[in-house]
Amino acid sequence: MASFKPFLLLLALGTCLFFTEAKPRLTRELGSLYDDILTREFKDLLDEKLFGQRMAPSDVWPRKLRRFARNFDLDGNGVVTKDEVVGKTVEEAKNSLDTETAAEVADTVAEAWKAVFGMPENGLTISSDDIVKTADMVCGNEDRKRELRIWARNVFEEADTNHNAELSRSEHGLSFRMLHVPPAGLAASFVAADRNKNGSVEKEEFVDAVVDYFCNKSQDSPLFG
Ligand SMILES: *[C@@H]1O[C@H](CO)[C@@H](O)[C@H](O)[C@H]1NC(C)=O
Ligand SMILES: *[C@@H]1O[C@H](CO)[C@@H](O)[C@H](O)[C@H]1NC(C)=O
Repeated sequence: MASFKPFLLLLALGTCLFFTEAKPRLTRELGSLYDDILTREFKDLLDEKLFGQRMAPSDVWPRKLRRFARNFDLDGNGVVTKDEVVGKTVEEAKNSLDTETAAEVADTVAEAWKAVFGMPENGLTISSDDIVKTADMVCGNEDRKRELRIWARNVFEEADTNHNAELSRSEHGLSFRMLHVPPAGLAASFVAADRNKNGSVEKEEFVDAVVDYFCNKSQDSPLFG
């Protein structure tokens, strides 16, 4: 197939030139047919040339996932461990929330580690491909994706301390600080979640923003800093 391309290109180019010079009116249709061939073949050729770049996996997704993981890598050694994600978050929750809410947060975080993301017991090297594979397993499987949505709804419920079915800036800030979003990133995180930009985050917006963060491969988001 590839060996025909130069020939087809020449044929299309030659015919277009010839026809457009000689019989512009009669050959308009033929001309556009050849235009199509030319465009298609030329595009294929270009694509082949650009193959390396074009097929390189987009950076957006891995970068986004790694940024999230790094928020939890408290000792900065490039590995997120269960103790850093679950242990430390539970500790913080116990220090700053009432017992019942802290227990809920503890369950939600432990569930995220094991059931939602299926993280290995010994932790995950942030720079490895495993982080992308992990997200791929969640986002490429409807059951796992449902777990992700359920988890996001639970996080929303816990964040919505006054139970009015929307998160204010301060409710959002409290929860996202617990998810280790740096203070400087909280405002942008809120804006990313408040998709209709009316100053509060509803559950649906929240769930969409979370799913998009982990599963949208082409769009970056400041949701988690
Ligand atoms: C924001 O929009 C949602 C959905 O339209 C609505 O339910 C909610 O009350 C609004 N909140 C504020 C603070 O305007
Ligand atoms: C990713 O996000 C962009 C921008 O919000 C959107 O246009 C696109 O459809 C999303 N892709 C997926 C697969 O959800």
